Amino acid sequence: MPKTIQLAILASGNGTNAQQIAEYFVDRTDVNVNVIIYNKKDAYVARRAEALGIESHYFNRRDFFETDNVLLFLRERQIDYLILAGFLLLVPENLLKAFPDRIINIHPALLPKYGGKGMYGHNVHEAVVANHETETGITIHIVDQHYDRGTTLFQARCGVAPTDTADDIAAKIHLLEKAWFPKVIDAFVLNKPMPKQE
Ligand code: GAR
Repeated sequence: MPKTIQLAILASGNGTNAQQIAEYFVDRTDVNVNVIIYNKKDAYVARRAEALGIESHYFNRRDFFETDNVLLFLRERQIDYLILAGFLLLVPENLLKAFPDRIINIHPALLPKYGGKGMYGHNVHEAVVANHETETGITIHIVDQHYDRGTTLFQARCGVAPTDTADDIAAKIHLLEKAWFPKVIDAFVLNKPMPKQE
């Protein structure tokens, strides 16, 4: 039997994406959510992990940027892919080197629009409203050393109504993330064709 592909999810906050990914793969034998790593002590994602019965582990900034603690932890668990699901730190060089083209991220906008430092979560939706955009969406991409700049794997779009608030957009984006992120991860790690939005 081929080896089960081991995923580590990295998150910083609420963790709805982490939960959706874990639920999607729960009955699978070929892909396994091995651990959820988080970098903010009070991140709600840790509670979600507990409820899901998935191990979670907190690492601080120093662990990420001044030591190999995270890398050694991932190696010990034989992790194959890192999935950034609302993870707000730049990925350190040692992880980029150890997981070349094996780290993917979701961004709540149609990159290259609304990417870069400071552009995360609600800030993105507020900028979309301020600029009177008529559409926005999600981008799932391979991670490199720059924020939000690696090769795009997938995008999905949604309309923005003139009356939409940042919260309205967040709700639409959340639906797109739920519909697509787990499927894109599935296709990517198993080398299957990417799904396409109708
Ligand atoms: C998601 O909307 C994700 O796209 C975004 O943070 C949110 C996390 O929500 N990521 C970024 O902005 C990355 N630059 P969650 O914690 O509920 O999954």
